[in-house]
Amino acid sequence: MAETRFSDGCDPASRTAHDVEFVVPFVHRLRFTDDVFGVDQQVLADLLTPSGDDPARVQFWLDEHVARAQPQLKARIRSFVTSHSDQLTMASNIQVVPGGEAVKNDIHIVERMLKCMNAANLDRRSYVVVIGGGAVLDAVGFAAALSHRGIRLVRIPTTTLAQADSGIGVKNAVNLFEQKNWIGTFAVPWGVVNDAAMLESLPDRDFRCGFSEAVKVTLLKDAAAFGELCDTADRIRERDWSAAAPAIRRSAELHLAHITEGGDPFEALEARPLDYGHWSAHKLEVITNFELRHGEAVSIGVALDTVYSALVHGLLMSDAHRVLDCLTRLGLPITHAALENEEPLFAGLEQFRQHLGGRLTLTMLPRVGEMINVHEIERTAMREAMRTLKSGNVRI
Ligand SMILES: NC(=O)c1ccc[n+]([C@@H]2O[C@H](COP(=O)([O-])OP(=O)(O)OC[C@H]3O[C@@H](n4cnc5c(N)ncnc54)[C@H](O)[C@@H]3O)[C@@H](O)[C@H]2O)c1
Ligand SMILES: [Zn+2]
Repeated sequence: MAETRFSDGCDPASRTAHDVEFVVPFVHRLRFTDDVFGVDQQVLADLLTPSGDDPARVQFWLDEHVARAQPQLKARIRSFVTSHSDQLTMASNIQVVPGGEAVKNDIHIVERMLKCMNAANLDRRSYVVVIGGGAVLDAVGFAAALSHRGIRLVRIPTTTLAQADSGIGVKNAVNLFEQKNWIGTFAVPWGVVNDAAMLESLPDRDFRCGFSEAVKVTLLKDAAAFGELCDTADRIRERDWSAAAPAIRRSAELHLAHITEGGDPFEALEARPLDYGHWSAHKLEVITNFELRHGEAVSIGVALDTVYSALVHGLLMSDAHRVLDCLTRLGLPITHAALENEEPLFAGLEQFRQHLGGRLTLTMLPRVGEMINVHEIERTAMREAMRTLKSGNVRI
């Protein structure tokens, strides 16, 4: 029999596979401050370290609604740069971008961001500091991750949701093909500064949104913290900072621990527990043409999967009621007319699976503080959960 020869003349025996496992160390720097462009300036300055003799070059990006709601902010940023001029310099004017989901719904905005980063001659040792809600953080973070294969990104989240959840994460994305976060990257931010003063101008509706992610993560990982949320829900809804601050901090810490200690920061495995309630939430956002905020959609999605968990996975009914009651007292919705669109919602399951590849894997809640992965949904029970929430008569 003729011997098989490869085109380079090597025989098969001399071909070897090289599967080398390697680890890349990352540092995640999370800070909590009260007024980052006031008394706590040093916290940000310490993150923006120069890497040679020259000052660090920094480009600031600002959510337009934050810029409007905090008219002194631009001047405060400039004054921050001036007072640290030995260490850092402004690489361009402060860039203002559309706020909210609009910034993620037009891919051309990302291209304009790339042009700005190029025009300012940013390099891998420069810093992009982005100040805004989760949507702006996602879009600017995506552009920064693409430029030169990754410019150092410092996030200053200005919503409760971004401080409690998305700003801590290692994902950036914008929406494409009518799907949430279709195009994006995994990229560990250089630093994240959760600043209390940034939240002062946040409208009540957006202030409440962040706590749906806090409910989500505590339900899965910290039963005591979930109990604390339930106990303080009314005060949080009324923006009592002594109740809201620990809830945001605990949620941020749980997310950070999941990323840094959970063993799968870039979501290579099947399970994606932080997406509890999100398969329907993402679809609800799209179906309602983003009339529902992400945090509100997550509240409904968490309510839905919680009722389903009670119907199918043995979650105590009294616990399911606690979850619904907690979300309601936080001022969050647990139902919406869009829950009537059962079939389009179920299409969200397939999109969720496709996004990850492999088998459908969803997190469900057998007990508060515990989670399980499931690979299929009993549609009859899920329909019942949808109808239960729709009826407003939550007797399960
Ligand atoms: N990357 C991730 O891991 C991840 C995780 C969860 C959510 N997200 C994404 O985050 C986005 C939602 O973020 P969000 O809930 O922060 O909402 P958002 O960014 O849409 O902000 C809500 C609104 O508030 C405005 N705003 C923000 N901060 C303000 C302030 N301090 N004062 C006045 N107005 C302010 C914004 O301009 C916007 O109009 C969604 O696109 C979601 O997909 C990403
Ligand atoms: Zn979310």
